[in-house]
Amino acid sequence: MQIGIDKIGLFTPNTYLDLVMLANARGVDPDKYTIGIGQDQMAIAPLSQDSVTMAANAAREVLDDDNRDSIGLLILGTESGIDQSKAGALYVQRLLGLKNARAFEIKEACYGATAGLMTAYDFVTAHPNQKALVIGSDIARYGLDTPGEVTQGAGAVAMIVSAAPHLLALEPATAIHSDDIQDFWRPNYSKEAFARGKYSTEQYIEFFQATWADYRAQTGRTISDFKALTFHLPYTKMGLKALRTILPEATEAEQAQLLDRYQESTLYSRQIGNIYTGALYLGFLSLLEHSTQLVAGDRIGLFSYGSGAISEFFTGILQPSFEKQLAGADHKAMLAARRQLTMPEYENQFQAELPEDGSEYEIDLAMDNAPVILKGVKEHERNYQVRI
Ligand code: HMG
Repeated sequence: MQIGIDKIGLFTPNTYLDLVMLANARGVDPDKYTIGIGQDQMAIAPLSQDSVTMAANAAREVLDDDNRDSIGLLILGTESGIDQSKAGALYVQRLLGLKNARAFEIKEACYGATAGLMTAYDFVTAHPNQKALVIGSDIARYGLDTPGEVTQGAGAVAMIVSAAPHLLALEPATAIHSDDIQDFWRPNYSKEAFARGKYSTEQYIEFFQATWADYRAQTGRTISDFKALTFHLPYTKMGLKALRTILPEATEAEQAQLLDRYQESTLYSRQIGNIYTGALYLGFLSLLEHSTQLVAGDRIGLFSYGSGAISEFFTGILQPSFEKQLAGADHKAMLAARRQLTMPEYENQFQAELPEDGSEYEIDLAMDNAPVILKGVKEHERNYQVRI
């Protein structure tokens, strides 16, 4: 029995910052951001979008009358959780009109959605008549005028995991590498992440090399067995650095193809930024929605990295009807319809906060046209609404 990703959906807020503008404001050469880091724009979430609303907005795209009643598992991977106790997945379940799913939240930095996907794989293996909804939803924040500022972003990716999937059948072999390291973390009292920037990039590459070596040893496969390799993308130069370490294993023609596929996998990230848990799947979706070279039967590699840190390299085979599962035109239209923020608007939006003292607050919703929104807070409770 084959199990894997049947459908995949994307949501990102409707405002963004141009990174040439950011570079100019910070006194940095714009080439550092657009070439050195490899980012052009980053999505900025308004107060009316949090990890719950973005998750629900992304998931609306993948739910339909055929799968809605068979969702037995709902996992939200996030590191932008809104509560220390209650799972964001339960709000998402209600906002989607789902019932009685095993609904919970997973945290392990950017690995959270992959933990969800692997759990879903096991769940569907045990319950082939049921499906799982796995969502990665995050707002990446490092702070104004910090080295990490250019690698922020916001968005969510939602996946239906099922038996006989129409998009990508996951293969059983996976390689995992994990260790307790301090490359990136966010203590409970902080709204922004702390990152040991250079160290984190070195660890990312070392963890990639460890899982790649393990995968090769386990399976006997080589780089020639892959039509594309996709990566967790905190910024688009990062995956390229990892890819380059193994490219010499390929022929010149294969190297050119893998680099072309890599560029296709970075196009959404270049405009959205780091979305933490969803970032790998954003790259995977970008590849499928921009490449004209992939055909059913192609093997795709996926490298997941979550700081702290854990990495997993796993693979899947594109299914015969995979193109029909995509909505590239809609996603490109969503990005094209976004509004560019000015620097003061960005800084105000970044600093805007919900009250933490229980006082009532209504969010100005004029600029947010998303179907699922956060309207405000009252007595420490978030008030969500589905408007369409
Ligand atoms: P930085 O120190 O400002 O940048 O921070 P830099 O000095 O290292 O320069 C970056 C690149 O730009 C370099 O290229 C420069 O040469 C180049 P590289 O050597 O890397 O190939 N450059 C230029 N290129 C063209 N024209 C120029 C120019 N000037 C310089 N004029 C850093 C960069 C990524 C460290 C910072 O943004 C940061 O700390 N980001 C946050 C941490 C991060 O994203 N780490 C990635 C690995 S960890 C991870 O992926 C997990 C994560 O997603 C979290 C989770 O798991 O939850 C973060």
